[in-house]
Order: sequence, then C-alpha cells, then structure tokens
Amino acid sequence: MNKSWHTKLIHSDAQIPQGYRSLAVPVYRGSTTLFPSASSVNDRWDQARAGYTYGLYGTPTTLELAARICELESGAHTLLTPGGQAGIALVDLAFLGAGDHVLIPASIYKPNRDLTTSLLKRFGVTATFYDPTIGAGIAELIKEETRLVWTESPGSITMEVQDVPAIAQAAHERNVLVALDNTWSAGVLFDAFAHGVDVTMQALTKYVGGHSDLLLGSVTVRDDALYERLGPTRRVLGSAVSPDDCSLALRGLQTLAVRLGFIEDSALAIARWLADRPEVERVLHPALPSCPGHALWKRDFRGSSGVFSIVLRPGPTREQVLAFVDALQLFEIGYSWGGVTSLIVAYDFRHGTGREVYDHRLVRLSIGLESTADLIADLEQALPKLTTRG
Ligand SMILES: Cc1ncc(COP(=O)(O)O)c(C=O)c1O
Repeated sequence: MNKSWHTKLIHSDAQIPQGYRSLAVPVYRGSTTLFPSASSVNDRWDQARAGYTYGLYGTPTTLELAARICELESGAHTLLTPGGQAGIALVDLAFLGAGDHVLIPASIYKPNRDLTTSLLKRFGVTATFYDPTIGAGIAELIKEETRLVWTESPGSITMEVQDVPAIAQAAHERNVLVALDNTWSAGVLFDAFAHGVDVTMQALTKYVGGHSDLLLGSVTVRDDALYERLGPTRRVLGSAVSPDDCSLALRGLQTLAVRLGFIEDSALAIARWLADRPEVERVLHPALPSCPGHALWKRDFRGSSGVFSIVLRPGPTREQVLAFVDALQLFEIGYSWGGVTSLIVAYDFRHGTGREVYDHRLVRLSIGLESTADLIADLEQALPKLTTRG
C-alpha cells in the first residue's frame, strides 16, 4: 500500500535489527492487546491460560513480576494490585459477601481494619477483632458464618508474632480460609503456604520495590480453585498495575537478598543496642525474646527484616517523644518502610482488643542501608530529648 506520511506515523514500515538481548525485563506498555484474527477475539481475565487479551489483565512485564512473586512464595498463582491495600481489598471482596463474618487480629495494619469497619460493614459483612496471640484459641471465635481469618505476623507496629499453623488448623477444621499479610517477611522469610495459609498478600511497595518510589501489591493463592474466585473479582474491580512500576519492582527483586541480609544484621544490632538503653523499657523485634511470640518466630521464620518497635520507659511526655524523633538527623519521619532510608514514626496506642496499652511510648523504626554505627550515633544524640524539658 502507498501510505501517506500521516499514516506512516501510525503504521510504519521502518526496520531495525532483530535479536536484541539484554539482562533487563522489557517494559511492555499497552491497554489494547492485538489479536491475530477476528475469530480469536476474547476478553478472558486469565492471561496465563487464555493468552494476552487486554492490558488490564497483564502485559509480559506485569505477568513476569507476578510469576516471580508466585515462585518466591511457592504459591499456585499471583495477581498484582495497584498497592498493598488494594491487595487486602481484593482478598476481602473475592472471599466475603453479605452475611459473612471475618476474624481479624487486633494488631492488623490499620487500613485493613478500616476497610472492614467501613465498606465491608456497609455491604453486610461482620467482623470480630481477636488477640493476635490467640493461637488455637481462634476456634472459639469461629461462627457458622465465618468465611475468612486474617493474620499478619508480626502485627503492624505492636509486632506480635502469630501462631499461624495453629490458627490455620483450627480454621480449616471449620472450612474457613486463612489470609496472611506477608509484607514484613517480603514474601521470603516466612513460607506461608507451608504453614497452612490459603491466600497471601504483600505490599510490594516495601521490600520488593525497596527504594520508596513505587506502590504495588500482590495476592497469591494456594490452588486453582482460589484463583478462579480471585480473578473474576479483580477483573470487575479493574485494578490495573503500571508496567513501569512492575519493571522497578523486578529490578528491586534482583537485590532483595543483599538488601534484606544487610538490613537484618543492622536492625538486630540497633535493636540490641536500644534494649540496653535506660530510656527503653522493651524492644518489640521478633528475633529478640522481649517480643510477643518470639518463640514462634524462631520456630517458623527464616530470618528477620528491618521493621521493629521500641516501648519507652514511662516518664517522657508525648511532646518529649516527638522531640526525640524530631532531633534525629538520619532517620526520616514517614510511612511506607522497606526502602534504603531509615524511617521512624511515634505512635499513640490506647485502644484495641487484646493489645497492651503503650500510650505514646511506642516508636516504630524501619532500618535502611545507612551505616549501622551512624544510625546508632544518631539515636544516641537524640535520646536525651526524652528527658529534656521543653
Ligand atoms: C503490613 C502492611 N500491609 C499493607 C500495607 C499497604 O501497602 P500499600 O501502601 O502499598 O497500599 C502496608 C503499608 O504500610 C503495610 O505496612
């Protein structure tokens, strides 16, 4: 066909050499996915089986990341979501309906709790918040209409390690599914499916991304039957992910082992240093005996990551705790941990079922890639603010 230059802008005949190979996974962007013939057009969500049909369900870049997360978590299938919280919502919307009941640890990531008490409540789902250290005792909380038990181990901020196998056994005896927020473990330090979990989610935003520059989540299931329930829900929710973000996450995965290894050692050294400080009452780090559920961590985990909390001794006012945090020069103040920069946030914890009352004495740290000695020196120069009069 003799094409005008206008058409050539869209349908080019330009040639480039074939056979390029590189170590980087290419970024395939695309909403429209081309079909080879009129009769092959379909809009199936399951790209793994149906082939590519629409950008919303995946491009080779997004599917590569999903497949790698699935491989690392030893699951059957993984679907990606635009963030960790979107992964939590996908699990709830796929596996819960009006009249159902869900069990949630009181130590769960707060937006997970908020989803239940707002949107899910409006849609007729009821919830009970349980003591995260309940273990097999969860059996007593399971009702006729219970469909799902959420776990998160260790819990957000208060760091309770859960007896996931005992909870899974009790839940499975009553045909109830178990979901786990596996973000702290980066999907690799806790083998969720080997410990009885049915569905995991991760905020890839954290350790997998690793550089605080993307938002992504994943949901991984143990078998095909759960995948068949998850996929159609994700399709109607329309939760697309960006191939560019997935490309960054794929790059993050390549250095995950070295980052986690350094962070584990550094966080442990800092946690132990803090445990010896007179200002600190208790260190909530799963690898230290002072953390609730430490024995379970030892039994079930392959290692520890870099997020832990400290409980300060009674004495400092809320203002003094904030002054301590403000005085830090290397630790930045902010949410969404797991990157290269160490972060710190002071909390005020007075509420919750089965949780200890820490008031304003709880401070959470996320250790990054700075020198351990420099981070300790930074904490040392800021701790006197806890006793300095404003
Ligand atoms: C344990 C946990 N789960 C889920 C999320 C949500 O992840 P995202 O920020 O990607 O929505 C977070 C984020 O802070 C988290 O800490």
